[in-house]
Order: sequence, then structure tokens, then C-alpha cells
Amino acid sequence: MNFQFTFYQPQDEIAPVWLQSLAVVKDKNDLVDYQGYFAYQQVAGETVLSFYAELDKQLVTINVDLVAGQVAYRRQHGGGRKQHIAKACGLKANWQPKVLDATGGLGRDAAELRNLGCELRIIERSPYVASLLQDGITRAAYHPQTQQLFDQSFELFHGQSIELIETLAKTEKPDIIYLDPMFPPRNKSAAVKKEMRLVKLLVGEDPDADKLLPVALENVAKRVVVKRPNYAPYLNKQKPNMSIESKGNRFDIYVI
Ligand SMILES: C[S@@+](CC[C@H](N)C(=O)[O-])C[C@H]1O[C@@H](n2cnc3c(N)ncnc32)[C@H](O)[C@@H]1O
Repeated sequence: MNFQFTFYQPQDEIAPVWLQSLAVVKDKNDLVDYQGYFAYQQVAGETVLSFYAELDKQLVTINVDLVAGQVAYRRQHGGGRKQHIAKACGLKANWQPKVLDATGGLGRDAAELRNLGCELRIIERSPYVASLLQDGITRAAYHPQTQQLFDQSFELFHGQSIELIETLAKTEKPDIIYLDPMFPPRNKSAAVKKEMRLVKLLVGEDPDADKLLPVALENVAKRVVVKRPNYAPYLNKQKPNMSIESKGNRFDIYVI
């Protein structure tokens, strides 16, 4: 296998801007040369950008859905400000903090915070993950159920947070910076969720994660919240002011 990813374009679809450097494949038989591929698929009448790869000899796929699924369930039935993420961010009634999520991923946590009334700026450095996320945001911004949430105050930036946090803070200092870098699963042989395995295939590790914390602390108004698996050491080996434990995860809170 010589290549990593490709864009599958059987009907002359146009690749999203951050994927335009990928080679294009028109014939399905040529996809076997790649570790994974991006393509548009029709889901419930919508055109959805998806990533496909083979895991354990099965073709699996991911895309970003901010309208239905897990994100919608939490929007409708979630615990509001009683949720751990809300407590970690110190959310209160009548406060709409400006949150900078500097490790955007598939946008789950950012969408959760938007549902809780925060205004979001999101940074994602992987062109692959950023493309999937932007596609999900665009669809949510046009969907009647979620338009009000996602057509404004939910903005994605593609780039390296270690630099972009500082640049963005010059125009608008965030109240909260939220960090959730990749962390190796404790037991590599355990059946890690397929979605996580696909994201890992796309982005690899985050070996520079420790560098995010000092930059975040320098450029935030109120607090930095770091999400970690509960067996992970503190980011940058820096002890937080407090931590909130939840099932499998921990939120470390650094108050300014
Ligand atoms: C564990 S995922 C985040 C998951 C996310 N919280 C969610 O709810 O979907 C980590 C993501 O952060 C991104 N990332 C890590 N370090 C970054 C950095 N310095 N700048 C920008 N993005 C970064 C990675 O590419 C990866 O997509």
C-alpha cells in the first residue's frame, strides 16, 4: 500500500477545500490501494461527507452529525448544567461564555457546549477531521431543528492551536479554553470504539499536547478545562486547581 487516503469521486463531485490535495479515484476497484477514502454519500436525503476505512476486515465509516444521533439525544434529554462538562466549565444561568475548543475533533464536546448556551470557536489541525466537521456544521446550520444553534456562534478554524490560540485571542479573548487531545488507550488490544480508531487513523497521536496548556493559560480570561481519560497524567504534568471525575474521564480545571 503506497498511499494513505484518497477522494472517491465517481460522479465528478467536488472535493471540499481542505481535501483538494488528495489524489482522486473514479473507479471503485482502485480504492484498494489506499488506507481509507473520503466520499459523499446520501443519508436520509442529505449529501454527507464520509470517511471509509477497513477495520478488522470490515468497511466502516464516520461522518459528523450534529442534528441527530448522540448529539441530538443529549440536546433533548441531557442533564443541562448538571452535566460534568457544564460543571467543569462553570456554566451558570444567564451567562453565555465564549469558549475556544482548541482540539475540535468530531465536534461532540463543542456541540454539547453550544447546546448549553456557549458561543464556540473551534480549532482543528487535521485537514481530514476539519473537513468532516465543517461538513457537519454546514448541514446543521441549514437544518430547521438546529439552524439557530449552528448557523452562528459556532465557527471552525483549520490550523495549529499552539499558534492560532494566540492569534484568535487578540481579537476576542475566550472566557474558557477547552482541550481534549488524543491519549493512547490504556489497553491497546481492547476493542477501542470504531469511531475512535478511525479518528486515530486520520490524525495519529497528539505528541505536542503538553504545549497547548501554557499557551491556553496565557490567552484565556477565566479558565482552561482539560478532558483526560481518568488514568492519564495531568497535561504538561501541571496540577489543576480542581478535577471532576466522570465515567472513564476526568475534567482538570485550571482557574485564572
Ligand atoms: C480526542 S480528539 C477531540 C475530540 C472532541 N473533543 C470531540 O468531542 O469530538 C482530538 C482532536 O484534536 C486535534 N488536535 C490535537 N492537537 C491539536 C492542535 N495543537 N491544534 C489543532 N488541533 C489539534 C486532533 O487532530 C484531533 O482531531
